[in-house]
Amino acid sequence: MAIQVKNNVWWVGKTDWELRKFHGSEYSTHRGTSYNSYLVREEKTALIDTVWRPFADEYVDNLAKTIDLSKIDFVVANHAEIDHSGALPELMERIPEAPVYCTANGVKSLKGHYHRDWNFVPVKTGDRISLGSKELIFIEAPMLHWPDSMFCYLTGDNILFSNDAFGQHYATSGLFNDLADPAELFAECVKYYANILTPFSPLVLKKIAEFVSLSLPLDIICTSHGVIWRDNPMQIVERYLAWADAYRENRIAILYDTMWNGTRVLAEQMAKGVVEADPSVTVELFNVATTDKNDVITEVFKSKGIMVGSPTINRSVLSSVAAILDQIHGLQFKGKKAAGFGCYGWSGESVTDINERLGKAGFDVMPDGFKALWNPDEKSRDDAVRFGRSFAEFCRG
Ligand code: FEO
Repeated sequence: MAIQVKNNVWWVGKTDWELRKFHGSEYSTHRGTSYNSYLVREEKTALIDTVWRPFADEYVDNLAKTIDLSKIDFVVANHAEIDHSGALPELMERIPEAPVYCTANGVKSLKGHYHRDWNFVPVKTGDRISLGSKELIFIEAPMLHWPDSMFCYLTGDNILFSNDAFGQHYATSGLFNDLADPAELFAECVKYYANILTPFSPLVLKKIAEFVSLSLPLDIICTSHGVIWRDNPMQIVERYLAWADAYRENRIAILYDTMWNGTRVLAEQMAKGVVEADPSVTVELFNVATTDKNDVITEVFKSKGIMVGSPTINRSVLSSVAAILDQIHGLQFKGKKAAGFGCYGWSGESVTDINERLGKAGFDVMPDGFKALWNPDEKSRDDAVRFGRSFAEFCRG
């Protein structure tokens, strides 16, 4: 089904209500997603991006009901990842001569995925194609979030096709941002930024500055996942500017796993201490063995400080804690405080291990951390409350 976006611009993508895992099992999609593809039907016709591979046949069949495929003059592949390029093999079977516009890295990536030699036309920032009275302008966006990523901009209608940037994994019936539940929408936007774009924050700031410097009017942002931003599209750009700049709210997240509940008790005592020292702080606790990892990462992203707890096992930490610390390390959060804690019975390396990992991940780590021998007794519990208070003070600085 084609949905009109503006004038001769049509959404021809696929809404995937069922998806619950993306990037293999790396990203949870509690609210599904969409693969947004756009048809621009001016004097010339351009097709911008396609859909994920499992929907390739359905997509091409539907597209053929919307337009005689031989009338597609240009195919634009803003990004080669399979969720956007997945229908290209089926499409290009039907229109083998159509030029495929993408970046030089896009050519490499598309050839690498599909081992086909389509009529590739590599483009750079500032290159244009004429659709008649309007033009598509290409803007490379390397590492937002792959080396091949690019945006394109439609003159006249003032539409930015931003691919993954400004998107969310969020299936909606309304397609446009003004028709979506704002709480759900922004929850998915921040989760997407936190889990996918955080490491590229310096490039986000640079790319937005570059786009602003082009002085192109902006009426609509057509992303490749989730809603189309037609109501005040700058609102998501402004959020990105904030999120890319060492973002933190007045929140502290306590992440832990526990074997016999000792480390859980410490986590709860520390939360009590934080709130005693600073009632304005929102504190949340997450058992990382039982909480969705992407939701945990989103909370880390929003927090000014995190406390991470694990009992000692095999001279290290529980595997769930190691896994979330590994993910935190890769995301390169900036400007956040941290502290390690945990119970032990024999050798007791977990806290040192956690603090070392947090330090390597770029956190400002409170020295020493907090250790409790065996199951925390009354003194240990009181000490844990005091440690929570100290951490709240540490996070004020
Ligand atoms: Fe939505 Fe990077 O693919």
